[in-house]
Amino acid sequence: MRKRFTDRISHIFLSLILVLTATFATAQDAKAGKSLFNANCAACHKLDKKLIGPALAGITEKRDAEWLHAWIKDNAALRASGDADAIAIFEEYNGSVMTAFPNLSDEDIDNILAYTAEVPAAPVAGPATGAEAVVVEEDNTVFLIGLGAVLLLLIVLLVRVKNTLKQVKGQPATNLMEDANIITRTALKNPRIMTLITIVIAVIFLQQLFLALNKVGVTQDYQPEQPIAFSHKLHAGDNQIDCNYCHYGARKSMESNIPSANVCMNCHMNIQEGPTTGTEEISKIYAAVGFDPEAGSYIEGYEQKPIKWVRIHDLPDLSYFNHSQHVTAGGLDCQTCHGPVEEMEEVYQYSPLTMGWCVNCHRETKVKVESNDYYTEMHEKLKEKYGKDANITVEMIGGLECGKCHY
Ligand code: HEC
Ligand code: HEC
Ligand code: HEC
Ligand code: HEC
Ligand code: HEC
Ligand code: HEC
Repeated sequence: MRKRFTDRISHIFLSLILVLTATFATAQDAKAGKSLFNANCAACHKLDKKLIGPALAGITEKRDAEWLHAWIKDNAALRASGDADAIAIFEEYNGSVMTAFPNLSDEDIDNILAYTAEVPAAPVAGPATGAEAVVVEEDNTVFLIGLGAVLLLLIVLLVRVKNTLKQVKGQPATNLMEDANIITRTALKNPRIMTLITIVIAVIFLQQLFLALNKVGVTQDYQPEQPIAFSHKLHAGDNQIDCNYCHYGARKSMESNIPSANVCMNCHMNIQEGPTTGTEEISKIYAAVGFDPEAGSYIEGYEQKPIKWVRIHDLPDLSYFNHSQHVTAGGLDCQTCHGPVEEMEEVYQYSPLTMGWCVNCHRETKVKVESNDYYTEMHEKLKEKYGKDANITVEMIGGLECGKCHY
């Protein structure tokens, strides 16, 4: 009975491993497909939008595999055979001729199609100026390898359990030791060496755990890719546009806003080309607000889509940070906390944003008691309390009280 039970479990794990390798295989295919796509198709096709040819995301849902193979190998021949779909799509694209790919193998084509199937089908086409859909690729490989390793370990354990069970029944054990080489054999037999190995593994594990825990929540240097290649260096640096022109919230309120696309349009209605990216990046602003640069006017009835900027600085919900308190009352420059933003092509998180960082500055920084309208009343009282010339730090006005920074 018992033996059959462990056998069955081994079977289940074996099938799991098979499924895993299959997942691996398709992941690999899509990867190969991506390179093939970039090398052969990307000049005329994108996945998410129309270029010279149609968007190819989700194409395997629209056409069957046989048709796709025939089309990709030789689209002219397929049309010549009188295939209605082939003739229709050719006419839809005003007779633009797609290159024939007789040299791509069936496997290559399957790989390319696997890649196109990885992303969801393209949304209904926006204006011809471009769309801002961003394709995010997830990489599961590490996770899969980890899972595979854990399963393998389980199998080894199961085999050992199975052997032990056999021994209990009084049968001669199929001795694992016999297969092992001499070094591991002596090692496994020696309890001291086993203890040593266990300790080393435990120490490494604890050290890694410690490192990982230390990093939790600290996101310094975080620099995500943004939907539009917006350069602070070009705008705030080279063109000297004031931070407050766009982040007008920082002076007045808790949040420092990210400007809406309409703020960009104040200038980009007329500035239609950039020095490094030409019209490519600026056209994404137009796609968001529905502006036709050729006509110089907004497209009527267009549903505006906000630009999905990726947030960089983000304190956990338990803490309270107020910009105007620091910028207006405290008289601090943006750069004190955000670094030389006007030199950054892409913004990154300059400061650690940990509690220690806030608290240290509050301990060291003197409150600017003069010329400070924001907290005039409170500052007046402080001057009375500590005397006019005292060095009043933020700590002294309550900057280390838990309740000031925590809800
Ligand atoms: C020189 C430009 C060009 C290249 C390179 C190109 N295509 Fe095309 N493709 C087109 C055009 C244009 C169409 C639209 C039909 C037409 O005009 O023939 C099209 C149509 C298609 C279609 C049919 C889409 C539909 O909606 O039915 C598929 C599938 C396709 N291409 C796949 C590929 C693949 C895969 C590659 C790379 C191996 C590739 N194309 C390379 C220009 C190109
Ligand atoms: C022309 C408009 C504009 C100007 C001028 C500008 N910014 Fe920005 N800023 C943006 C946009 C758009 C984003 C969001 C995209 C990004 O992160 O690059 C942003 C993002 C940021 C962020 C990161 C926000 C987050 O997600 O955490 C900081 C910090 C920042 N700006 C600081 C500054 C400072 C400091 C200045 C002046 C030196 C400045 N900005 C000038 C438009 C502007
Ligand atoms: C106050 C005017 C102003 C505002 C507001 C403004 N820009 Fe610009 N932008 C410029 C100028 C000036 C250039 C550079 C043009 C040149 O040098 O040819 C530029 C260039 C660009 C470029 C092209 C970059 C390159 O190197 O090719 C992009 C993309 C861009 N801006 C995005 C934005 C976005 C997104 C916003 C809104 C968050 C915005 N701009 C707001 C003035 C502005
Ligand atoms: C005392 C340090 C400090 C100063 C000075 C400062 N910031 Fe911030 N900034 C922060 C912190 C902390 C966050 C994260 C806030 C959060 O997640 O709630 C932040 C977030 C931002 C964001 C993202 C949006 C938001 O409000 O969370 C922008 C944009 C920004 N700052 C721009 C500016 C600009 C522009 C200035 C100057 C006018 C400025 N900051 C001055 C610390 C500072
Ligand atoms: C670069 C220095 C600096 C950093 C970093 C800083 N602060 Fe401050 N903070 C100040 C100054 C200066 C004031 C005093 C403003 C004034 O004059 O009233 C202040 C005031 C405050 C106050 C009001 C205190 C009171 O009693 O009125 C709070 C709350 C606060 N900061 C929270 C934070 C938090 C949360 C962080 C970290 C995310 C932070 N600060 C990071 C400089 C800093
Ligand atoms: C000057 C502002 C400030 C003061 C004062 C402050 N905190 Fe914090 N605290 C923060 C910020 C900001 C975070 C978020 C830090 C992060 O995400 O790494 C935080 C995080 C925490 C956390 C979450 C654990 C962690 O480290 O991320 C705890 C618990 C906490 N604070 C307790 C307290 C207590 C208790 C006090 C009073 C003795 C206090 N804080 C005073 C700003 C402050």
